Amino acid sequence: MLAIKAEGLGKKFDQTAAIQNLDLEIDKGTLAGLIGPDGAGKSTLLRLLVGLLRPTKGRIEVAGFDVAKKPFEVKARVGYMPQHFSLYGDLTVAENMKFFADLYNVKEQRFLERKKELLKFSALGPFEGRLARNLSGGMQKKLALACNLFHTPEILLLDEPTTGVDPVSRQELWRLLTELHEQGVTILMTTPYMDEAARCRRVGFINEGRLLAYDSPQNLTAGMKDEIAELSAPLAPSIKALKGLPGLKSVHPFGETVHIVFEAEEQGLEKIRQRLEVENIAVKSLKRIPPSFEDVFLALAQRETR
Ligand SMILES: Nc1ncnc2c1ncn2[C@@H]1O[C@H](COP(=O)(O)OP(=O)(O)OP(=O)(O)O)[C@@H](O)[C@H]1O
Ligand SMILES: [Mg+2]
Repeated sequence: MLAIKAEGLGKKFDQTAAIQNLDLEIDKGTLAGLIGPDGAGKSTLLRLLVGLLRPTKGRIEVAGFDVAKKPFEVKARVGYMPQHFSLYGDLTVAENMKFFADLYNVKEQRFLERKKELLKFSALGPFEGRLARNLSGGMQKKLALACNLFHTPEILLLDEPTTGVDPVSRQELWRLLTELHEQGVTILMTTPYMDEAARCRRVGFINEGRLLAYDSPQNLTAGMKDEIAELSAPLAPSIKALKGLPGLKSVHPFGETVHIVFEAEEQGLEKIRQRLEVENIAVKSLKRIPPSFEDVFLALAQRETR
């Protein structure tokens, strides 16, 4: 069963093609992550899926309903957390909950039961009376998530739920997401963090409005045909020296090292070593390594540009 299905999806804002010819199928119960650089189209895609924006092209089914034709059926089954602060700062935690529950037409009796559960779930019980604007960033994200759970949605669309919070809150949010996933909720979340994407069952890579890949983290890394070398040497001179080397796919800084993506061939590493030697680069170490998620993403993005 599919929870989300998009076909030939396109969205234009004036001249900007924010989403281009995008096909996506997400199975029911999946915890899926969507990763891509700033402006890639992540937020636009979520807004299209929840029906807040109309596509320029293509069609979308969410929870088995056509989003354009059955918007209310979709909204009743989906929770959507926008990227930026979506709470009322001058309402308390409990008042925000009430406000969202009303939006979703949750009856008073059900609201009270659910509030108890969700205050426990989000560990916000002790802060029930605190104004939302006085909560920490992490607590605000937890409250925003909880506010979208009153109508027990089948599908959650979360736009950067863990961005800008401290590592402890990030762990806490992940615990909540995992719990919801275990309850069978389908989750599609965007994230700028590669390590977070790697924790999802399925990962979509989006770049310039195009979905470059959607697969399990294992398959994405295994599908990488090129080889990766890690070079420890002065960054800028090494990158300059290696540009244009035959067989080289990309070369980019990676922390304090340089990652080199090159065509798999017997002498590949040797060719790199020789070039660095000719250019008098002081090499501390150069070795093959298994590809990281970031390497896979960059290789896919590069292939697309070519
Ligand atoms: N309402 C809008 N009007 C005009 N252009 C828009 C609008 N919303 C988004 N865009 C443009 O569409 C493109 C995709 O934006 P989007 O916000 O979806 O990216 P994103 O991947 O969520 O980025 P970020 O990581 O910064 O949140 C960008 O070029 C953006 O400027
Ligand atoms: Mg965004």
